[in-house]
Amino acid sequence: MLSAKSLFQEILDNDESFRLFCSIAASGESQGGWENARIAALVPESERALAPKITRHGADEDKHGRIFNALLKKRGLEPVEVPPDTDYTMLLERHGIGLAHDKLKADRPLTVRDVITYLAHSRVTEQRAAEQMAMLVKYFADHPDLGRAVRMISADEDNHLAYSHEELLRFAAAGHGPYIRRTLRECAHAEIRVHRDVSLAVMARMGRLLGWSRARSALLAAGIHAMYAAERAAGWRRMVTLRTPERRDALGGPATAAPEIA
Ligand SMILES: [Fe+2]
Ligand SMILES: [Fe+2]
Repeated sequence: MLSAKSLFQEILDNDESFRLFCSIAASGESQGGWENARIAALVPESERALAPKITRHGADEDKHGRIFNALLKKRGLEPVEVPPDTDYTMLLERHGIGLAHDKLKADRPLTVRDVITYLAHSRVTEQRAAEQMAMLVKYFADHPDLGRAVRMISADEDNHLAYSHEELLRFAAAGHGPYIRRTLRECAHAEIRVHRDVSLAVMARMGRLLGWSRARSALLAAGIHAMYAAERAAGWRRMVTLRTPERRDALGGPATAAPEIA
């Protein structure tokens, strides 16, 4: 049977595929952590109040990176190098989505538009992260090794998504609506393509590690293309709407620690 659950189960059960999965996840999370830490450091004077939330956002992503590394260690595995075609965060940056790393590495303060660009990028990518973690929680909330980790990361990604909605709405109310809408659209369209390409690359590698038949690999690739077609037609719209989140000020206060999660 080919379900998302059985697919993930197979990936988790094999050391090599588990190693690739956790390595890719850890690397993406740590990159997100680094980006947010730089953005927090470069926030313009007028947006200083946002800095602690951006710092918290980065600290959460760093924590997620450490959790995935700890899951590897617990199983006695070392992380592997992340193949470039599976590097979601880097590919988005290459496509000019979010803030360029050159800008983050420089020591010039960001502009208000840069901050909005960061929030729009977060709105779109945190939607993806929240949905993927919700799927893992649905299947593996009670998993002896992964359960706590996926529940904690999922709750954090929901907070990140709520925060990006709330802050973008604040900027929209301050007159930045047209720029926000344009940026969200661009970001969503690029994200669904990058997500498709990364999914194809990850599944091709998993297929080789797990010895999948040609037919099975072809079926999975077809599924990824079908999902892209649906997102291209209408699904992207879910990534660009803004509504006041149920949970307000989701990133107010310090990051919660990850006590011996793995
Ligand atoms: Fe994360
Ligand atoms: Fe996140």
